[in-house]
Formats: sequence, C-alpha cells, structure tokens
Amino acid sequence: MVKSVKGKPIITLQDITFSYEIEPGWNETVLQGMNMEIEQGSFVAILGHNGSGKSTLAKLMNGLLLPHDGVVTVNGNDTSEQERLYEIRRTVGMVFQNPDNQIVGTSVEEDVAFGLENLGVEPTEMRNRIDEALRAVHMEAYAKQEPHRLSGGQKQRIAIAGVIAMRPSVIVLDEATAMLDPQGRREVCSLIKRLNRDEGITVVTITHFPEEALDADRVIVMQRGSVYLDGPPREIFSRTEELQSIGLDVPHAVRLRHHLVRDGVELPPILHQEELVEELCKLLLKT
Ligand SMILES: Nc1ncnc2c1ncn2[C@@H]1O[C@H](COP(=O)(O)OP(=O)(O)O)[C@@H](O)[C@H]1O
Ligand SMILES: [Mg+2]
Repeated sequence: MVKSVKGKPIITLQDITFSYEIEPGWNETVLQGMNMEIEQGSFVAILGHNGSGKSTLAKLMNGLLLPHDGVVTVNGNDTSEQERLYEIRRTVGMVFQNPDNQIVGTSVEEDVAFGLENLGVEPTEMRNRIDEALRAVHMEAYAKQEPHRLSGGQKQRIAIAGVIAMRPSVIVLDEATAMLDPQGRREVCSLIKRLNRDEGITVVTITHFPEEALDADRVIVMQRGSVYLDGPPREIFSRTEELQSIGLDVPHAVRLRHHLVRDGVELPPILHQEELVEELCKLLLKT
C-alpha cells in the first residue's frame, strides 16, 4: 500500500450546502456552509448527536451524495464530475454500520474479490490482493468460509478487507462498530488504528463511542449540520460540560476526573484511564 504524504489535504469540502427533498418543493437543509479539510495520513474521529449530519457528510466524501452548493474534492478531483467518480470511489472506501448489508459473496474470499472484479483486476493480481487484504485484517484462515457464519466483528473486518483490496487512500467508517459486541469493537478499532499507523491510510471514523476517538489525531464534533468543535482529543474532551450540554458523552476516565475535580480533588486534565490511575496514585502517596 502506498505510504502517504502526511499533511496535504486529501479531501476538501468548501462552502457545502446539502438538503434532502422531503416532498416535491419541500427541502430540509442538513448541512449549510460547511468547510472541512481532511489531511492525508490523519486519523479523524467525528462525533455528534443523531441527525447532526454525520452520515450525509460521509457520503459527500466519496460522491455517494453531491452537494447542492459548494465543492467537494478528493485528491483534487471534483466529486460532481461524473467521469471522476470511479477514481474517487476507489480512493475513498466506505464501511457502513450493518455488517450483514455489506456481504455480497458466498465465501469470504469471494466477498473480498467482489470490488476487484468490478475494477477489472487480473486474476493473479486479484489473488495477491485478496491474500494481502485478508492478512491485513487477520482473517486469512477464513478465506473459504461462508461469511454469514462469522461474528459481527469478523464480518466488519471482511468488509474492511474488501475496501483495503481496492488500495484506497482513505477509509471512511460510518458507525462501523455500532452493531458489534465489545470484542468486535476492539477488533475493528485496533485494525483501523493499525491501517492508519502502519499503512498510512487516512481514516475518518464516525462513532457514538467517545473512547474510539481517544487515539485520533483530531476530533470533529458536529452539531445541527455544522462543525461545532474541531481539535485534538485532549482539547476537545477537556470541554466536558460543553459536550454534555449538547448530549454527547465523554470517555469514561474524563468523566470520572470531572466528577472528582467537582468534588474538590486536584487533578490535571487527563484523557486516558492509565493517566487517571497514575494521578490518583500520586495523590494517595502524598496523603
Ligand atoms: N434520505 C433522507 N431523506 C430525507 N432526510 C434525510 C435522509 N437522510 C437523512 N435525512 C435527515 O437529515 C438529517 C441528518 O441525517 P444524517 O446525515 O443521517 O445524520 P447523522 O448521521 O448524524 O445521524 C436528519 O434530520 C435526517 O432525518
Ligand atoms: Mg448516521
């Protein structure tokens, strides 16, 4: 897989307005005047209440939806140019919430092959890419199995393998862990972290679980169709009350630290559970 040049924007959204037509003549505006840049090689987590426009944003990122106003570009290609769409969809792979809806093959390897067949990849190259993608998601032992027998987490890893096999620069995951059990969530989270860190794939993950945003380079909080907060996780989650006031949760350790500080315990800002444990131990030693 191609190592990317970190820092350069790979997806840009400029002054985006998007509405859904509810009935003829009646539109609901979901995004208005939105601007965003996703840097190549970055790991971005998007949080936000239901209905804040996250899925709409995700679909704009690979041309599944087109803006009514403004321009979306992927690697410099405008998503509204029909002849660029193929290249854009190959560059930005999508993984959705329901693993069952994403299975198309009768065996795991057939499932991974599906997108490649559509790309017209030659058989030998296809074999290599399937093996490589299954290895990347640690599912090579399941190549011949029927996908519907797998666990939710394994099915999502197969869906991700199907995307990786296309050699995308970006993977957008729209609540890909929402239907998984804790084990499945851990599998998918560690996989996407690894793909970002080791393969240089840009990751945009939309999630309801604040813990999944802890390792991101950047957290974007959406509220009513616009960007409400945007910054590193440490900065975003330090605004605990502000997040809670718009109905969003913060990671467990951040919430616990917030309660303790409110009760008069002196603690520096923290993000991870280990940091909280360390700070509490220091306090215990002092007393
Ligand atoms: N296909 C659609 N037709 C009409 N309205 C839609 C459609 N999809 C989403 N919406 C509306 O657009 C708003 C944003 O939805 P969405 O982008 O799915 O938000 P999120 O993913 O943050 O929950 C919501 O009010 C939702 O009801
Ligand atoms: Mg959604």
